Amino acid sequence: MKLKSAGIIGIGSYLPEKIMTNKDLEQIVDTNDEWIRTRTGIEKRRIATTQEATSDLSLEASKKALESANIQAEDLDLVIVATITPDMSFPSTACIVQDKLGAKNAGAFDLTAACSGFIYGISIAKQFVEAGVYKNILVVGAETMTKILDWKDRNTCVLFGDGAGAVVISTVEEDEGIKNVTLGSDGSGGSVLNKPAGGSRMPVTHEALENRMNYLKMDGSEVFKFAVRKMAAETKKVLEEANVDIEDIDMIIPHQANIRIIEGAAKRLKVGLDKMHINLNEYGNMSAASIPVALDEAYRKGKIKKKDKIVLVGFGAGLTWGASYIKWSI
Ligand code: UT7
Repeated sequence: MKLKSAGIIGIGSYLPEKIMTNKDLEQIVDTNDEWIRTRTGIEKRRIATTQEATSDLSLEASKKALESANIQAEDLDLVIVATITPDMSFPSTACIVQDKLGAKNAGAFDLTAACSGFIYGISIAKQFVEAGVYKNILVVGAETMTKILDWKDRNTCVLFGDGAGAVVISTVEEDEGIKNVTLGSDGSGGSVLNKPAGGSRMPVTHEALENRMNYLKMDGSEVFKFAVRKMAAETKKVLEEANVDIEDIDMIIPHQANIRIIEGAAKRLKVGLDKMHINLNEYGNMSAASIPVALDEAYRKGKIKKKDKIVLVGFGAGLTWGASYIKWSI
C-alpha cells in the first residue's frame, strides 16, 4: 500500500482575554518585574477566568482551525487534545470538545506528555493519515496552567500562562507535510516537574491540600539544564533523520519556557535567534499550547510560507521531549 503524506491543512489558536503583567504579580508574591524579565524573558501572560476551562479554550482554537482548513466538524475522524490541565480526570477534554464542536463522526482522546504533548499528538495523527486509516484529524494543545499553580510559590507561579492552539492534519502534496517526528522520554526524571496530588498515588485529601500537593512543583534548574541539552540534541536528531541541514531551515518553533533556554539551544545549534519564533514575552509558558500557538502566530504574521522548512521542538514533564521536521503545506 502506498503511504500518503500527512500535513497541516488548517491552524488556529485562542488566548483568554485577561492579561496578568509582571507588575500584577508583584502584588501576589515576593517578586519583581526585573527578575522575571531578566531570568525568563516573560513580561505578561493570559489567565483563564473561573468560568473558562481547558475545553473552552480548545473549542475556540479548534473552530478557527476548522475554518482555516475549510472543513466541517462532521468531517473529522479523530480529536486529540494534548493537555496536563484537563477539565476533569474523565471524561476526556477531547470528548467535551468533540461534543461541543459537533464532530459526531470522530473518536476522541486526551494525551499526556506535558509541554511535548503537541508534538506527540501530531506524530499520532501522521501515522493514521499516512496509513490511510483516517482522513482528517484535529490535534489540540491546550492548557489552563494558572489553575494548577501555587500562587504562594514565586519559583513557579510567574512562569506559566493559559492558551490553546489547534491544527487539522490531513493528506497533502507528497513533497510537503510532517516529514519526520522524533519522540523521547525518561521517566526517571519525573519528580523534577509534577503535580503530586489528584491521582491514584495521592488522592486529594485534606492532608494533601494542606501540604499544597495539588499544585505544580518544579526543580527549575534541573529542568533548565535538561531543556537546553535536549532542545539542541533533538533538533539535530530530527534533521539528521530527515537528511536536511540546519542552514536550510526557515523557522524553528521551540517550546516557549524561558528565553535563556532558547538562547542556549540556539547557541548550541549555531543559529541566530531570528530563526526562532519567540512569543514567551507575551504569553509565558503555556505547556502543550506553547508550540501550536507560536506556530499559528508565525504563520499569521507571514513568517512561515508554503513549502518553508520548519522544525518544532519541545521538552517537558515526564520527562518527555520531541521534534518534528515539517515542509509547510498551507
Ligand atoms: O515547560 C517546562 C517547564 N519549565 C521550565 O522550562 C523551567 C526551566 N527553568 C527555568 O526556567 C529557571 O530555572 C527558572 C526561571 C525557574 C529559575 O531561574 P534560575 O536562574 O535557575 O534561578 P534559581 O532557581 O537559581 O533562583 C535564583 C534566585 C533564588 O534566590 P536565592 O536562593 O539565590 O536567594 C530564588 O529564590 O532567585 C529567586 N527567585 C525569585 N526571585 C524573585 C526564584 N523565583 C523568583 C521570583 N522572583 N519569581
